Amino acid sequence: MSLSPSTIEIVKATAPAVAMNAEKITIRMYEILFADFPETKELFKDAEPDQHKKLAIAVGAYAANIDNLEVLGKAVEKMATTHVRTKVKPEHYPMVGVSILGAIKDVLGDAASEEVLTAWKEAFFFLADILIAREQELYAEADTTAKA
Ligand code: HEM
Repeated sequence: MSLSPSTIEIVKATAPAVAMNAEKITIRMYEILFADFPETKELFKDAEPDQHKKLAIAVGAYAANIDNLEVLGKAVEKMATTHVRTKVKPEHYPMVGVSILGAIKDVLGDAASEEVLTAWKEAFFFLADILIAREQELYAEADTTAKA
């Protein structure tokens, strides 16, 4: 699976607007996430208060490199390791996905057209699939080590 050229084009075109508002978007994202999916609060119990900044930076870096994702290898590894430590599971991704899209819509207003939101949705789940796959490997490794 790869991202369609039109998705890449739209994400790149809107990346500056998202990056400029990244902190607002991530703060709104957590508001939506914790209100609509309170079960996810537990996962963030040891998170630092500025956790949203890390997510904002990650989203910005991802959007800027949407046509050159190889450069994100190290960042993916760090995110996957942290997610496994905090017990993030595949079923959490759609929760974060709808929350992040809702946040983009709320913060960007009219600039977040249906077309823009669809492109970001596709891009989000593309990254989510990469993270989920790596996290499944890490969970499996940890499981094997525990049984050895
Ligand atoms: C594509 C989607 C996602 C991206 C880009 C992302 C990004 C990040 C980043 C950059 C970090 C900091 C990593 C570090 O510096 O160690 C992080 C940590 C974390 N993420 Fe995600 N994440 C995503 C999905 C999720 C999901 C679905 C959940 C579950 C609700 C989640 C929960 C967490 C938690 C609990 C932490 C650790 C917080 C802490 O204890 O400091 N993330 N994520």
